[in-house]
Amino acid sequence: MVIEPGPSSNLARRTAAIRPFRVVDVMEAAWAAERAGRSIVHLEVGEPDFGTPMPVVEAATKAIADGRVRYTSSLGLVELREAISGYYADRFGVEVPARRIVVTTGASGALTLALAATVDRDDRVLVGDPGYPCNRNLILLCEGIPTPVAVGTASDYQLTAGLVAERWDATTRGVLVATPSNPTGTMIPPDELAAIAAEADQRGGVCFVDEIYGELVYDRSPATILADCDTPFVINSFSKTFGMTGWRLGWMVCPDWALPAVEAMAQNAFIAPPAPSQYGALAAFSPEVWATVEQRRQAFAARRDVLVAGLRTAGFGVPVMPQGAFYVYARSDSLDGDSMCLARRLLDEAGVAAVPGCDFGDHEPEAHMRFSYTTSLDQITEGVRRLIAWRQD
Ligand SMILES: Cc1ncc(COP(=O)(O)O)c(C=O)c1O
Repeated sequence: MVIEPGPSSNLARRTAAIRPFRVVDVMEAAWAAERAGRSIVHLEVGEPDFGTPMPVVEAATKAIADGRVRYTSSLGLVELREAISGYYADRFGVEVPARRIVVTTGASGALTLALAATVDRDDRVLVGDPGYPCNRNLILLCEGIPTPVAVGTASDYQLTAGLVAERWDATTRGVLVATPSNPTGTMIPPDELAAIAAEADQRGGVCFVDEIYGELVYDRSPATILADCDTPFVINSFSKTFGMTGWRLGWMVCPDWALPAVEAMAQNAFIAPPAPSQYGALAAFSPEVWATVEQRRQAFAARRDVLVAGLRTAGFGVPVMPQGAFYVYARSDSLDGDSMCLARRLLDEAGVAAVPGCDFGDHEPEAHMRFSYTTSLDQITEGVRRLIAWRQD
């Protein structure tokens, strides 16, 4: 779909800058191929295949049956804000007062509120390129200027404090990072992340840290920036950790100075996050659910290893081992210099769906593709087999 505002249209000019997602085109083409009877291995999907753990489902179902389906406080249920505060204490030994926790409609709601609370017209916000595309569009929605900074293998496809210092100017309001990142799965080391936050602080700006994939990390323990520094807006969500993408529930740890503004905006824009989801989420931090999360984390790690090894054998470049999330951002230009065209060929000729780099920014998108490991190990093994066979044909 192409958005075309013009003089004869009532569409706002800001819509013109919002690019459609190629991943949707890939998914639709993959579904059409399946309807036509072909077998497709889905390595394009950006959400976990694991469902929501039963204790969460049961808690939400009971809440609905008991009629707890009305608006809650705009900042979220007090019990849930306390449970999230307990999460930081138990898991990281960090004290985050429940007062600072704002429950939102997914990390998306948290990002929207954090940016709307801080970004004025023409303010620049630094983001890594490649990066999560919605961030750029949310900055545009606030009439800010998303300012992509090209990142590559030298910094594990992540911003560094040095890059932030270099690119910050008088028009810059803040810097937004996600660690691990979508689409690369790479992370910012804790000391570097603290240095990025310090750069923003020193300049009187704002740092936004998206920790949505923070529990899905491999070969290391989960961590939070809040252990080192409590000035950033910290974004998180139930979506990926707990297999709750459709529940639309996330949270933000908000600096005290921004709380009244964020609360007023949350009241007006959303009234409240979804009540049944919040009652369900109260069961998410139980030992039983954490055991499930741990099993899934191990399954993701095994999938990553098979996918990365297979992609390398098939001729893709994976110079940096992804450390978290469920994505591999692979260099694909030795197979085809145009990743859009390659995505189409892989679907048509190999029966494998993956996303071209153009969804994630302007820095060498034609030379990269994102592969997700959100499908079973059997499917990943089959996908890899197809890619290697396709390459040899
Ligand atoms: C880096 C990143 N942040 C935020 C989101 C939005 O997540 P949610 O479902 O919690 O709104 C996503 C979704 O893919 C993501 O990859």
